Amino acid sequence: MNHIPVKQLLADPDIYIGSEVDVKGWVRTRRGNKNVAFIALNDGSSIKNIQIVVDFAKIPEDSLKDVTTGASLHVKGMAVASQGKGQAIEVQADEIEVYGTASVADYPLQKKGHSLEFLREIANLRPRTNTFGAVLRIRHTLAYAIHKFFNDRGFYYFHTPLITASDAEGAGAQFQVTTLPLEDLPRTEDGKVDYDQDFFGKMACLTVSGQLEGELGATALGCIYTFGPTFRAENSNTPRHLSEFWMIEPEMAFYEIEDNMDLAEEFVKYCISYALEHNREDIEFLAEHFDKDLIDRLNFVVENDFVRLPYTEGIKILEESGKKFEFPVYWGVDLASEHERYLVEQHFKKPVILTDYPKEIKAFYMKLNDDGKTVRAMDVLFPKIGEIIGGSQREENYDKLKGRMQELGLQGMDWYLDTRKYGTVPHSGFGLGFERLILFVTGMQNIRDVIPFPRYPNNCEF
Ligand code: 4AD
Ligand code: MG
Repeated sequence: MNHIPVKQLLADPDIYIGSEVDVKGWVRTRRGNKNVAFIALNDGSSIKNIQIVVDFAKIPEDSLKDVTTGASLHVKGMAVASQGKGQAIEVQADEIEVYGTASVADYPLQKKGHSLEFLREIANLRPRTNTFGAVLRIRHTLAYAIHKFFNDRGFYYFHTPLITASDAEGAGAQFQVTTLPLEDLPRTEDGKVDYDQDFFGKMACLTVSGQLEGELGATALGCIYTFGPTFRAENSNTPRHLSEFWMIEPEMAFYEIEDNMDLAEEFVKYCISYALEHNREDIEFLAEHFDKDLIDRLNFVVENDFVRLPYTEGIKILEESGKKFEFPVYWGVDLASEHERYLVEQHFKKPVILTDYPKEIKAFYMKLNDDGKTVRAMDVLFPKIGEIIGGSQREENYDKLKGRMQELGLQGMDWYLDTRKYGTVPHSGFGLGFERLILFVTGMQNIRDVIPFPRYPNNCEF
């Protein structure tokens, strides 16, 4: 590669000042006077631009007519110490080649300050804005930190299928995968759709979670994690739900619920610290433009212990709060976001790990407590976000698990029960919603703005 990334030029000005450099990127802004033009060039490597100075004595002004916002350039020139303030290094252009023009008449990103709603409509171009550049670089860093965290601790990255014929997780409505002709479905004698003729010879869907297969991995390899897309066909139009989102699901043999909580807490703190360290400029940019308290909030979460609280005590606190909630609170209710946020933001003012939920509102595989009523579930609740992690210790007793599955009418899952039939072990795991973590770290308000191409009801653009 013959050009130098902008990030590298800005990080080590002393290395480059006084030498010829090649830079490439997109024009963010152009200003100047009758003698000179200043071009802010961005190549995506950093939130910062490199300033290109064009002296019209060297490069005539009329040869720059295509150098407009959004155009892509190759600039050759001398790196010099900058005269102006705001940057240590700039490039005095000797040659400018325009790779591609961007017509002033219709390039949509002419000026700063487009609304996030407008940018969502042009998600094909929004990665070129400062805001989305910052968010997407942070997204990358967090993905890397996640792999590093688990790899450093001896976990194996375990790939679970995206297409599955088991719908037993119950975590959400599924999208069906089929090659049957929808306008002329083959039928069995009793009028049902004949899935024998479908691609897989049975009904198949996109996965809502890799957990069940993850348990097969953990009960062989010890500690595994998944990190991949999951799909939920709920009609949830909220700032915290996507139809296609990425989930990280560690699953650990020989972990009890306390070990699971310890790991979850260490894990999210690690990810946040990693981003604070490696994406400082991007986080500072987002703090300045969207959320003044962002950095304090991130540091606070990293530095403080999470509260650990049984569901039953959480309900008591909510009942005694005297607050009028939209959804009423009583023992057995599935907590709504307003309840979770009350506990976290108003009562404790800290992240909360809520445990031991009523079994009726949790999945079939969670380990039953001795009280016979609650299960060893754990949800990690965060300020601004609500639930960021859901997990549990798993029921490892074959008879209890089989009994619960029968109660719920779950069939065709002997492959899963085999983990309990042969060499069963206590084990635990959890799922972190990747976009919810990014929401928290970036301070963005809407989950549709932390994934490049969001999928949600009535939207499948790009
Ligand atoms: O709580 P959930 O449904 O748990 C599971 O899927 C378990 N199998 C996890 C496990 O124990 N291995 O989802 C886990 C997390 C939630 O806490 C939330 O952060 C995120 O996934 N999540 C979503 N994120 C974006 N859009 C959605 N529609 C989401 N649904 C869940
Ligand atoms: Mg959950």
